[in-house]
Amino acid sequence: AIDIKKLRGETGAITLDPGYKNTGACESEITFLNGEEGILRYRGYSIEDLASKSNFIEVSYLLIFGELPTAAELEKFEKTIKKYTLVNEEMKNIIDGFPKTAHPMGVLASLTSALTAFNPKAVDVSNEKDMYEAICKTIAKFLVIATWTYRKAMGYPLNYYDNAQGYVENFMQLMFALPTDKYKADPVVVGALDKLFILHADHEQNCSTSTVRMVGSSHASLFASISAGVSALWGPLHGGANQAVLEMLEEIQNNGGDVEKYIAKAKDKDDSFRLMGFGHRVYKNFDPRAKIIKKAADDVLGALGVEDPILDIAKKLEQAALEDEYFKSRNLYPNVDFYSGIIYRAMGIPTQMFTVLFAIGRLPGWIAQWKEMRLRNEPIGRPRQVYIGENLRDFKAINER
Ligand code: ACO
Repeated sequence: AIDIKKLRGETGAITLDPGYKNTGACESEITFLNGEEGILRYRGYSIEDLASKSNFIEVSYLLIFGELPTAAELEKFEKTIKKYTLVNEEMKNIIDGFPKTAHPMGVLASLTSALTAFNPKAVDVSNEKDMYEAICKTIAKFLVIATWTYRKAMGYPLNYYDNAQGYVENFMQLMFALPTDKYKADPVVVGALDKLFILHADHEQNCSTSTVRMVGSSHASLFASISAGVSALWGPLHGGANQAVLEMLEEIQNNGGDVEKYIAKAKDKDDSFRLMGFGHRVYKNFDPRAKIIKKAADDVLGALGVEDPILDIAKKLEQAALEDEYFKSRNLYPNVDFYSGIIYRAMGIPTQMFTVLFAIGRLPGWIAQWKEMRLRNEPIGRPRQVYIGENLRDFKAINER
């Protein structure tokens, strides 16, 4: 008799769970998430509290180091980040090699990986100071190269970080300032961006974060691990959804604004179209981030006095989906990406940059998870499979095939 187990090389039982829907990959102290009740907490603090009372740099510190910083710790953190805001000038040669039409996420993944070439020394994870410096370096340089992807696409000269301004203000400075100017960002826009970054900062073992942990588990460098996270985030089923939402809304508008037609398309099982920005792997009642962001969207649009027909379409679509039996029975609600794109658009950020903004927000989460994984000495990630291919076959010479 054929010993299937021996043929498959199995040494014990293997759990098959495609998409890891019910499989925990690690233990973690960073983010608590309850999908049924719509609860999200970073290090025990509710997302609602953090979004209304904290700021992105403070939340980054909390995620990475486990506690809210004291005033002195925060000052040191900000100062150390500023120490590393210059990016090697030779990185500009790499950017020059990309076509202007390249997607910013592809450029960002490549540039993040390239940072390893300019910072080749591996982080000594057992050395607290080494780790601290590497973390601050990553936070500083990632923001700069993220905005350079936009400057490249526009054909503008690349900007430098302005150490006199804060991290989120610098996003606007790096993106939009004339090289000789200081950019005066609207405080409403900066406040909304800060909130958006907080809401995106971590989300336990999502696709990109698991990727960062997986790549890092082979002891690949921090930059290489983050670069892999950027690539994972790019896909339209993950971070790329915020760009896909806007493109979908524009398409609906260009086709006469018939929302019902698109609802029907999304329900049609012979059509691969999905309503972008709806549904979530874990949140099956509501996405708590979407609630906060929806309010922020209303505030920003009101403050900026934006009137945009795309917003009317978004509202109609949301309403129609919420009342539809198909979406109700499958617990499909708007997720964070449905509203974030709307705010980014109101801020004048081009659609192709939306996922880059997600990446900037998610960076502290990726770093925190990478650090936790390394400090816990987790084994290399190496899932098994259930082999369903051919059994042993005799090799056939080419003239016999
Ligand atoms: N539009 C139409 N139908 C949908 C949608 C959607 N957006 N999302 C899920 N469904 C349907 C599926 O067809 C399936 O129907 P069935 O039971 O009749 O087969 C059912 O709902 C369950 O869907 P799954 O794909 O099994 O759910 P899963 O948890 O694997 O996927 C995902 C979650 C990927 C987010 C999905 O809802 C989706 O593709 N949404 C659109 C893309 C999107 O917005 N992604 C952003 C996610 S949030 C983030 O990354 C921050």
